[in-house]
Amino acid sequence: MEHGLPPVRGDRIQLQQVLVNLLVNAGQAMSDQSSPRIVTLRAGAVESRSLAITVQDTGPGIAPRDLPRLFDAFFTTKHGGMGMGLAICRTTVEAHGGQLSVESAPGSGATFRLTLPYSQEHTTP
Ligand SMILES: Nc1ncnc2c1ncn2[C@@H]1O[C@H](COP(=O)(O)OP(=O)(O)OP(=O)(O)O)[C@@H](O)[C@H]1O
Ligand SMILES: [Mg+2]
Repeated sequence: MEHGLPPVRGDRIQLQQVLVNLLVNAGQAMSDQSSPRIVTLRAGAVESRSLAITVQDTGPGIAPRDLPRLFDAFFTTKHGGMGMGLAICRTTVEAHGGQLSVESAPGSGATFRLTLPYSQEHTTP
């Protein structure tokens, strides 16, 4: 976690839900494995204009064929899954002026990255 990161403006509950969704997904992805289950949450600045938060896990990662559909509503690979979590996360982040993306190589976990613009009053001219 970088120190002195400026605040972002947004709906706390909605942004909290985004992080909870990503953390729950990470936990579910790793639930069957005996290898270490590690979630790493990082926050840092992007060119002093926005905040980037990454949620990285040590799960199985995402199959390349699933990547294009991952954020689609009702896309799920889970038994009894709804497939709404990531669709809602992306909608929420974009409504806050940010972006949500994922990087993953099968076998080496998944890293979700969200950016949020800094609150206008705190942007240095
Ligand atoms: N950290 C992750 N590692 C591997 N695959 C993931 C990860 N996060 C999401 N996925 C994949 O993306 C799919 C969609 O995730 P999403 O959160 O939208 O729905 P879900 O978790 O299946 O159901 P729910 O609506 O209950 O959240 C998951 O079914 C899973 O295949
Ligand atoms: Mg989910």
